[in-house]
Amino acid sequence: MHSTFDLQRALAVAVQAATTAGAGLVQTRGAVERVTATSKSSARDLVTAADVASEQCIVGHLRSAFPEHAIEAEEQTHDALDDRPRWIVDPLDGTVNYVHGLPLYCVSIALWHAGAAQVAVVHAPSLGETWTAVRGAGAYRGTQRLQVSATRTLGESVVATGFPYRRQELPNPNVGNFNRFVLDVRGIRRCGSAALDLAWTAAGRFDAYWELHLAPHDIAAGGLLVEEAGGLVTTALGAADWLRAGHIIAANPHLHPLVLERVRV
Ligand code: IPD
Ligand code: CA
Ligand code: CA
Repeated sequence: MHSTFDLQRALAVAVQAATTAGAGLVQTRGAVERVTATSKSSARDLVTAADVASEQCIVGHLRSAFPEHAIEAEEQTHDALDDRPRWIVDPLDGTVNYVHGLPLYCVSIALWHAGAAQVAVVHAPSLGETWTAVRGAGAYRGTQRLQVSATRTLGESVVATGFPYRRQELPNPNVGNFNRFVLDVRGIRRCGSAALDLAWTAAGRFDAYWELHLAPHDIAAGGLLVEEAGGLVTTALGAADWLRAGHIIAANPHLHPLVLERVRV
């Protein structure tokens, strides 16, 4: 197991990596535009030179500080699944926003070990916000400790969700779930960055968040932020092992059962 000292060092390295990569993203934002965007799993699923440059920057920092660790990053880095401490990285979460000039994008970095998230960093350079957590030591925005909201009813809630790129091909593109909430909640948001949705749930800006068809790199860091802010995080079926399930519910403890009841996978 890691000592607290190790986790604090891991956090410092992850913050440094995220900050450096984020500065690069801000710099190339105007230049990337839609010109260098090429399609991935569907015509909506863009990957830009900025995604790749950010990943290379983050992986460089992590490899030089922790050569013995494994790394799983979205674009190019897929170390074998084994018992090593494992960094799970989304070098640019919110690529569609980034390409369209919207500031809602971030870098997401988590360290997993012994079956649980240990360290999380979500850094949104265009918003000037950095979110961090260490297991057992709370979640923070900068130096401010985070707490999920205390909202008890859907009618007083602002909830967040998202839709997969392959929404025409998938049997459940989350539209039915959206419809099961939209008339009953105070507000519903689709921000386009799962990591920010989770960070904002940790901060109590959103009362709950759910989404289907996600990858581990989308949620690894944000999930720990919510847990360390006193929220509940499960799969959309209510199971504890949310990292690789592909679906997630994150909410304050009052709302979690109400969201679980409505979401269909
Ligand atoms: C996407 C965002 C979006 C979510 C998509 C993700 P990307 O990640 O997190 O909010 O709805 O499912 O794929 O492609 O911008 O890294
Ligand atoms: Ca993502
Ligand atoms: Ca991404």
